[in-house]
Formats: sequence, C-alpha cells, structure tokens
Amino acid sequence: MTELNSEINKRRTFAIISHPDAGKTTLTEKLLLFGGAIHVAGAVKSNKIKKTATSDWMEIEKQRGISVATSVMGFNYNDYKINILDTPGHQDFAEDTYRTLTAVDSVIIVVDVAKGVELQTRKLMEVCRMRNTPVIIFVNKLDREGRDPFDILDELEQELKISVRPLTWPINIGAKFKGVYNIYENSLSLFQPDKQRVTDRVEITDINDPTIDQTVGSDDATKLRDDVELISGVYPEFNEDEYLSGKVAPVFFGSALNTFGVKELLDCFIRIAPAPKPIQAMEREVRPQEEKFTGFVFKIQANMDPNHRSCIAFVKICSGVFRRNESYLHVRSGKTYRFSAPTAFMAQKKDVVDEAFPGDVIGLPDSGIFKIGDTLTQGELLHFKGLPSFSPEMFKYIENSDPMKTKQLNKGIEQLMGEGVAQLFVNQFNNRKIIGTVGQLQFEVIQYRLLHEYGASCRWEPIHLYKACWIESDDDEALAAFKRRKQQFMAHDKDGRDVFLADSSYVLQMAQEDFPKIKFHFTSEF
Ligand code: G4P
Repeated sequence: MTELNSEINKRRTFAIISHPDAGKTTLTEKLLLFGGAIHVAGAVKSNKIKKTATSDWMEIEKQRGISVATSVMGFNYNDYKINILDTPGHQDFAEDTYRTLTAVDSVIIVVDVAKGVELQTRKLMEVCRMRNTPVIIFVNKLDREGRDPFDILDELEQELKISVRPLTWPINIGAKFKGVYNIYENSLSLFQPDKQRVTDRVEITDINDPTIDQTVGSDDATKLRDDVELISGVYPEFNEDEYLSGKVAPVFFGSALNTFGVKELLDCFIRIAPAPKPIQAMEREVRPQEEKFTGFVFKIQANMDPNHRSCIAFVKICSGVFRRNESYLHVRSGKTYRFSAPTAFMAQKKDVVDEAFPGDVIGLPDSGIFKIGDTLTQGELLHFKGLPSFSPEMFKYIENSDPMKTKQLNKGIEQLMGEGVAQLFVNQFNNRKIIGTVGQLQFEVIQYRLLHEYGASCRWEPIHLYKACWIESDDDEALAAFKRRKQQFMAHDKDGRDVFLADSSYVLQMAQEDFPKIKFHFTSEF
C-alpha cells in the first residue's frame, strides 16, 4: 500500500452533534482521554454559550473564541488518527454546524435518555440524511432516571427517520443502573461511577453465562435475556453496509460523565466508521487516493482581536497531500498562494504542520482571501459543492447610516457573508439588501463587526418575511410568469440565484397551489 493510502485508511473524521446539554462536550472529552490526548477530566472547555449571556454577544464571542481551540481535535487511538470536528451548541450558529457536517465522513449523535430527541438534533439529522452520512447514536446519562430504552429506540426511529439497531443494552437505569451488555461482542461491563477511570469488563461466554446472574442478580439477568431476545426478534441483524449508506444507526447506551459505555462506542466506531470518502465536486467525483491535492474551506473563524482583522480558514483535505509552502490555486480568484504557516490540530494544541492528508483539517491564516466553499487545488478548476444554505428564520433590511462609508459597508457585508455569518438577498425590484439569519444574535454580530473591522455603520429596518425559497422550473414561461407576478418579492442570493421571499405561510401555500410548475426549495442545495 502506498503511504497515501495507508494514511487515508487510518483516518476517521467525524462530528459529535446533540441538542445543547445532552453531553457532547463531556463525550468529546472522554474520547480524548481514551486517546491519551488529555489526561484529566475537565480539560475540554465547552464552547457552549451560557444561557445567561444571550443578550451580550461580545461575551458570547469571547466564549466562542474558545471554540477556535476546540474546532478540530485530533488524537491517535489504536493506530487510527481520529479527527473530531466540533460544532457550536448555540442554535443561533446552526449554519456553522450544517457546514461542518459537509466536512465529516460520519457523525455521532448524543441523546439525553430523559429528554429523548430534541429539536436541534432533529434538524441536524435532516442534514445528515440529505448527505447519507453514517450515524451512530449514543444514549447518554443512563446514571440518571430516564425513559424506557425501548421507548427511546421507537422515538429515535420516528423522530430521526432512521432505522436503529442497539449494539449495547443497559441493565436498569438511574439509581439502579448496573451496566451495559455488549450485544455486538457478547461482553458485560459493570457500572462503577467513576469520572476518570475506565470500567473493567466482565468476561462472559454469551448471554446465558451464569456469571451474569452472579454479578447483576438473577432478576436483572432474566430481564436482560428477555430484552436481548426481544431485540433480536424485532430488529434485523446489524448490517455494516446499511450503516455506511446512512440507512441504519447503531445505538449505544452509557454515561459520558462516568466514562461508561464510551469505550464500547469508540471501539465499534473505529471498526465500522468510514475512512475519508470520495467527494462530489461540480465537475467530477474526487477520490481521496488521487495524487494531487484538493481541499475546500468549510468554516472561517474570525479573530477576537479588534485591532487587526485576521481569521482562520478551516480547510478539509479531500485528496492528495497538502504541503506547506507549496503553491496552490485558489480556484475562485484564479490566483495561486503559498501557505507558510498551516496549522493542524492535535488535542487542544495547534501546531504548524508540513503536510496533511485526506480527512485532516488544517487552519490557514486568512487576511480576507477566503470565502466559505472556496476550493484549493494544484491547478485543476474544481468546485466542491454541498455547502447548503437554509432558509433563514429572521430577516431585516440593512441600511447605510454613514453615506461617506458606502464602500466600506459594501466590502464589509461582502466579506462577512463570505465568512458565512448570515445570508444576503438583494431584492430584484428595488435593489434593497436584506440580511437573513437564524437568530437575533447575528444582527448584533454583523453591526458590531462592520463598525469595528470596516469602520462602517449600519442600521436595521424591519421587513416581515416568513421564508426564503429557492425556485426553479423546467418551464421557462411558467418561471417568467411567476417572477412577474411576484416581482416585489423576488430576490437574488449571493450566487445570483432566484429566491422567492414569502411573507407568510399562507402566501407560500397559495403560491405553491397557483404555480404547480414551480419547484420551491428550502435549502440552496437541490
Ligand atoms: P453539551 O456539550 O451537549 O451542551 O453538554 P455537556 O457535555 O456540557 O453536558 C451538559 C451537562 O450534563 C453537564 O452538567 C454534564 O456534566 C452533564 N452530563 C454529561 N454526561 C452526563 C452523564 O452521563 N450523566 C450525568 N448525570 N450528567 C451528565 P452541567 O451541570 O451543566 O455542567 P458541569 O458544571 O457539570 O460542567
């Protein structure tokens, strides 16, 4: 095997996603502990934004600053190089998470056993489904009272719209929680609350081994056998190919805080999770094993230092080997650049690296050349697609409040939108600029950054909109007729595509009924 192939096969790049508070940070930390990347619990700072701070975005940005360090965490485990891509917990930054999901090969979803599937998880799962991303589910907090595991499985299937297959099974829950039985490997792990140490496994031959009765008591052993029998009756055998194609999600139970059930998860993960996969570019499919380097920017993180505008562009390596100081083509601008200080992320440190392989993420210092979705190659004109925009939830007109600074304002808006802070729509009728966001916070972020980084001041004016829909039709005449009728509500997105801005759900529904030949899309990827 060539060196490149063996590097690729070693890599597992994934994201952990959850509704805030389900235990994403805790699980991340425990995985790092197993990898020896950190040595004590509590070392990983949550990039979770404290609920109390929602009205003070400077505070939030400070907290978010932490997430530069934890944006990507690499560690080695059993000869594998594992890259965890972190995702912001705060829902106002959901777009960041969507984009991060375009850079991973698989996902672990954390669900709180008491709360079940929550809103944010449902939304993120939709993104995974769109891309057929393989998903493993970790049901967390078994040390606390929660729901019946069978009910949780039903809920996972219904709410996440994916088939599930438990690979471990809990023995009781809450105060009576005794451990998990590993269906996959026929082993038993007994629960000993311990925040630092890994729990030992009990060796058993199979589910009928009397050792189980001796260790957990015969009542619980009987219940476990009944449950496992029911599981094998109800759920088909776990099939790896179905997992890899995103059709079935294996489910694990445990307690991240107690480092319990986490090793089972990790051991299974490295066995079944995919190595870097081919990625579809507009022009062709790019295989990781190709000799020539390609990569794309999926995230841009602004620096908190208000004195100089500098960012880090996160580049996912898709094929070949990225080398420091080599010239690469920045496809959008047609210019070549060399990068003398690319950084890689191991645990929570970032270091300058000489080379990086498919599946890796590197940080490139950016003084404004990059936009989200930009492609770097060794000369090929390639465009990676699949960085979807979703219809924003909130809209406002952005107006210039200092006529002397029009240029600065336009430049600022362009760059901030390029970073993916929010979405810009330009009304086709009156040319007014409309900014669409997922939450109120982004408006504050934009106003502040325009002033401090570009010296431009803006003000917001209300506009009442329900949703932005990307429209298309096979019938040019129908499309033209629609645009004429709705001309006051038509806009262009950043790529010049037609977007219909519906001001209420009723208007949208009527438009869908009146114009059956028009297709309405709620994401830009269709
Ligand atoms: P998040 O990143 O998904 O938002 O969740 P995070 O890991 O920060 O966990 C949220 C809370 O749940 C934390 O408590 C954490 O200690 C707790 N937790 C995580 N896993 C488990 C578990 O297996 N069992 C129990 N009982 N609790 C768990 P917190 O009080 O909000 O924060 P902290 O002060 O403990 O850090």
